[in-house]
Amino acid sequence: MAARQLLIVAHAPSPNTRTLVDAVLRGARHPDIENVTARWLPPLDAGPEDVRRADGIILGTTENLGYMSGALKDFFDRSYYPVLEEKQGLPCAVYIRAGHDGTGTRRALEGILTGLRWRLVQDMLICRGEWQDVFAEQCEQLGLAMAAGLDAGIY
Ligand SMILES: Cc1cc2nc3c(=O)[nH]c(=O)nc-3n(C[C@H](O)[C@H](O)[C@H](O)COP(=O)(O)O)c2cc1C
Repeated sequence: MAARQLLIVAHAPSPNTRTLVDAVLRGARHPDIENVTARWLPPLDAGPEDVRRADGIILGTTENLGYMSGALKDFFDRSYYPVLEEKQGLPCAVYIRAGHDGTGTRRALEGILTGLRWRLVQDMLICRGEWQDVFAEQCEQLGLAMAAGLDAGIY
């Protein structure tokens, strides 16, 4: 069977946010996962063709000025309508790196994901406040859980 494709579209403008992407990838590439290929694209490099090929998607963003990063918003601006019909039900997970809040980003993403009818398979993870190493562990778990679900055919 062809490997299932996990796409990670995540904005990583700082060393900490790069650590989070690496953690998601580490989880998704856990040695026990047999039949999933995980790939990270920065949002400005990702588009509808990438979403079409994906069997699951993880979205990652910072919260800036009460909203998701402009880069992730641009990804949705370019991809929303081209994939709207075809990708309903796409399993999806989200992590947000927020210096002090995260709720504006969460609400905005809830609205977009509801519109797309993508299926959130776990609660959105908000890594809030000053940096803590546990954020990386949480992101690793998020990547592992999504990949394991795809691998097992649950998603
Ligand atoms: C221009 C700007 C606006 C920001 N606005 C918010 C915000 O509205 N809410 C929030 O929780 N954090 C905000 N932050 C903090 C970012 O979320 C944080 O810098 C980013 O997640 C990177 O975190 P790091 O320092 O751990 O790499 C802002 C940061 C910048 C530079």
